[in-house]
Amino acid sequence: MNSFRFLPPILLVVYFVGLCSSVGAYDPLDPNGEIKIKWDLVSWTPDGYIAMVTMINAQMYRHITTPGWTLGWTWASNEVIWSVLGAQATDQGNCSRFHNNTPHSCMKNPYIIDLLPGAPYNQQVTSCCRGGILASQGQDAASAVSAFQINVGNAGKTDSTVKMPKNFTLFTPGSGYTCSSAAIVPPTFALTPDGRRKTRAMISWEISCTYSQMLASRNPTCCVSLSSFYSYEVTPCSACACGCEKINNCIMENDSRIQSAPENSTQINDNALVQCTHHMCPIRVHWHVKTNYDKYWRVKISITNFNYGAKYKQWTLVAQHPNFKNVAQVHRFGYKPLNPYPSTNDIGMFYGVKHYQNEILLEAGSDGNVHSELIFEKDKEIFTLNQGWTFPRKIYFNGDECTMPLPDSYPKLPKSVYTNLHISLPKLFILVLIVLLALRFILCRNSSQMYQGI
Ligand SMILES: *[C@@H]1O[C@H](CO)[C@@H](O)[C@H](O)[C@H]1NC(C)=O
Ligand SMILES: *[C@@H]1O[C@H](CO)[C@@H](O)[C@H](O)[C@H]1NC(C)=O
Ligand SMILES: *[C@@H]1O[C@H](CO)[C@@H](O)[C@H](O)[C@H]1NC(C)=O
Ligand SMILES: *[C@@H]1O[C@H](CO)[C@@H](O)[C@H](O)[C@H]1NC(C)=O
Repeated sequence: MNSFRFLPPILLVVYFVGLCSSVGAYDPLDPNGEIKIKWDLVSWTPDGYIAMVTMINAQMYRHITTPGWTLGWTWASNEVIWSVLGAQATDQGNCSRFHNNTPHSCMKNPYIIDLLPGAPYNQQVTSCCRGGILASQGQDAASAVSAFQINVGNAGKTDSTVKMPKNFTLFTPGSGYTCSSAAIVPPTFALTPDGRRKTRAMISWEISCTYSQMLASRNPTCCVSLSSFYSYEVTPCSACACGCEKINNCIMENDSRIQSAPENSTQINDNALVQCTHHMCPIRVHWHVKTNYDKYWRVKISITNFNYGAKYKQWTLVAQHPNFKNVAQVHRFGYKPLNPYPSTNDIGMFYGVKHYQNEILLEAGSDGNVHSELIFEKDKEIFTLNQGWTFPRKIYFNGDECTMPLPDSYPKLPKSVYTNLHISLPKLFILVLIVLLALRFILCRNSSQMYQGI
């Protein structure tokens, strides 16, 4: 088997090509994932219009958590915001040119944030006031919408004079999202609250914001470790899986700063308080192949938080494995199959369940972990303990892809005649090639010795 020593490099290349394919704005596990912003002009005013701005998180497993979203844009001309319901501009700007009424914001590029829960009733609109938190479709579709109403002045009063705002930005508060320019779309219909009358926007614009993990953070934010009942060796997260730049600025388990960690911090990429480990990831996902039954097999998934400064509310885990098409049981986690492509059914999404008190992944420490066990029904045609088949192909935590260990470090089956007999065609070809070369070498040496003898 030593003659296959060059196989790991080949696997490495495949592995890195695989890595590169996942860093763009397009997420193959969630091809329709985007945050859609609808800007519906619902009525004209003496100097502008009133618009309902609705943000719809169409992503299956990527949510926006505290401190929430910030939506920005640049006005096309000299528009001002007279008032906002359900949200507010972060900066009023220079409104000194107005003497009688003072606008809510005169900024050329305003930034809007959601109101906090419990905002005065007369400042609310439907789907507002959640502190900018936007759930994912897979977890809570009803809370995946955020809306506010905006009264825009100085804005032109007809279809032909009104101008679309430009340069939309969405901060969460990271800068992982890139927004398209606004496009005119067919007018949005809305039902009156009693459901008896349909109204129609004067003009509807739409903006689409897509996420890129590369833009959000330079390094991955989680890693995967593996183990199996058939091997004593645990495959740890790879070294520096999340970058080792901060290795001199991490926290030892006995650090006094742990006690003074901010109590309600939930920032995702706050690596300031990450425990010192060889992988330096705030999150580790461990996949343990626990039991191999006759008709079923069992996996234990554990998620461990190494960040003393963050707990993860509404966390999500996404795993890709060919056996997700027949999951028999999931303990303690919520589970939802994701089928972005009808032909494949190999992606599952997991999230915490209040009843099991695991809906919040707590800070690093003895309580900073959640776990679940899954039972898969075996498809005897494809099930095998060989070649790491039982391990996940991809793992995402909170919508970010986790670094997998290198393929040649996966837990190995005990050496047996059975496993050695399982040689794939390419390997067989290489083996035959090596035997032929060796044969040629021996033959040639023998013949040259013959000549020397002469
Ligand atoms: C505010 O705007 C007015 C005119 O609109 C201008 O004269 C004044 O200098 C501005 N103030 C600041 C601090 O920019
Ligand atoms: C677009 O917005 C970003 C962030 O607010 C800003 O830095 C940039 O200058 C803006 N570009 C234009 C053309 O207004
Ligand atoms: C923490 O532990 C490390 C080794 O584990 C030790 O070198 C260091 O002095 C300890 N620090 C404190 C504050 O106890
Ligand atoms: C943390 O949140 C709880 C409620 O969620 C609140 O009662 C407490 O005052 C908060 N603590 C800090 C330090 O903000």
